[in-house]
Amino acid sequence: MNQIAVIGLGVMGKAIAQNMMNHGFRVAGYNRTYAVTETMQGKENFIGYKELKDAIESLEKPRKIFMMVPAGPVVDAMIDQLEPFVEAGDIVMDAGNSYFEDDARRGKRLEKLGVHYLAVGVSGGEMGALHGPSIMPSGSKEAYDQVAFILETIAAQKDGEPCCTYIGPEGSGHYVKMVHNGIEYADMQLIVEAYIAMKAAGMSNQSISDVLESWNQGPLESYLLSITIKILREKDPDTQKDLVDLIVDASSNKGTGKWTSQCALVQDINVSLIHGAYMARLTSNDEELRHRFPKVQSHIELDTEQLRQAYFLARVVAYEQGFRLYSDASKRYGWDLNLSKIASIFRAGCIIQANLLEYIRDTFGRLGPDASLFDDFEEMAIAHLPALKTIVTTGLLHDISMPLFTAALTYIIPMQQVALGANLIQAQRDFFGAHTFKRVDKEGVFHHHWE
Ligand SMILES: NC(=O)c1ccc[n+]([C@@H]2O[C@H](COP(=O)([O-])OP(=O)(O)OC[C@H]3O[C@@H](n4cnc5c(N)ncnc54)[C@H](OP(=O)(O)O)[C@@H]3O)[C@@H](O)[C@H]2O)c1
Repeated sequence: MNQIAVIGLGVMGKAIAQNMMNHGFRVAGYNRTYAVTETMQGKENFIGYKELKDAIESLEKPRKIFMMVPAGPVVDAMIDQLEPFVEAGDIVMDAGNSYFEDDARRGKRLEKLGVHYLAVGVSGGEMGALHGPSIMPSGSKEAYDQVAFILETIAAQKDGEPCCTYIGPEGSGHYVKMVHNGIEYADMQLIVEAYIAMKAAGMSNQSISDVLESWNQGPLESYLLSITIKILREKDPDTQKDLVDLIVDASSNKGTGKWTSQCALVQDINVSLIHGAYMARLTSNDEELRHRFPKVQSHIELDTEQLRQAYFLARVVAYEQGFRLYSDASKRYGWDLNLSKIASIFRAGCIIQANLLEYIRDTFGRLGPDASLFDDFEEMAIAHLPALKTIVTTGLLHDISMPLFTAALTYIIPMQQVALGANLIQAQRDFFGAHTFKRVDKEGVFHHHWE
């Protein structure tokens, strides 16, 4: 009998099914379009089914069903289709990028049938899915314990540990994946801003790639830098030009960065870099406004060591903002998230895998969930702040927009400022709305008759 069904054999489903098969798990495959399933028929440890019913009935009990379909109504529709064939004790996993608030509803629906539901965040793209992704499962712990032998085997391994750990109840796994993507948006945009700055300094793609390669070690080493180094060296086979220069300057998104931003507003957490990264993608698509203004060719003098320092500090701010979301969500939703373990499973397999995660794992491991990355990086921040200031001011003076470097700077500067002027806000609020204020010289709450 088959051990697990993979439902949805698209880019991710096919790769993760192959990963399971490579590890000796017997996989039942089902895809809406059977022609796709057929392309996998005959592979070792795989049987593809035309009918969903047959795929489910081919499974050992309790049945383990791994859905890899687009988030939203498709997941509900798949659960509708699965409902007649599953029974008490079975485990349905939604491994797509579903919105975490949908998980509680889906979990309750399946719970009525005695069926377990797991919300499973998966990161790593196609190659990660094939060779070992980072996996963030949540929901019933009892159900997780029954699928752990598969998920922990197919996950990336780092220092002998699987990059898969039980995250917590309900949709916490999808939440953790969502914020992972928010951090990913921010880090991608920071690399873009460094690239744009180096282009404005007259550097070729090859020399930008060489600089990024020199950065890609120690605490700055990361998957995103590694792929960018390769991208900048890639030639278009047809024209032999640098492929990156032939790609339209407008970026897409599938919504997880936007969701992270929306959640941060609900949680009252400042995620200015994640938000800014999403806004930068929107700006890149604003054809009308971008065509309206005359173009300025920028030329700057650039010290790439200063740029490296600015990038290092800004990247720490991006991760700090993401992990503050985790810390707050842990309390707000009662999930009891282990931030050190989350950092640990991000160390390999996922898109934001980076050496920095080793430091973050250590910080939260030693200091607990309320730690700040600046508990360990304060000295670096103070030392790198002048470089960040120079990069931001040079860029802005020469018409180079650096929304995330700027956001990182304006995140740090207020922390050092003696006064922020919030006293004047309080006075204004009290003037027009009798909202009251506190005083520096007396206890209590006051209202003043301003006129
Ligand atoms: N791509 C990534 O890097 C990545 C990384 C992590 C997570 N994810 C998440 O993984 C999930 C799958 O992504 P993907 O990249 O594999 O997408 P994909 O290549 O577009 O594949 C989508 C799969 O879902 C099936 N599907 C679509 N609409 C359906 C419907 N109405 N009913 C039944 N099946 C339907 C498709 O079947 P047909 O062949 O019949 O169309 C296909 O098997 C998404 O939630 C995505 O956000 C993706």
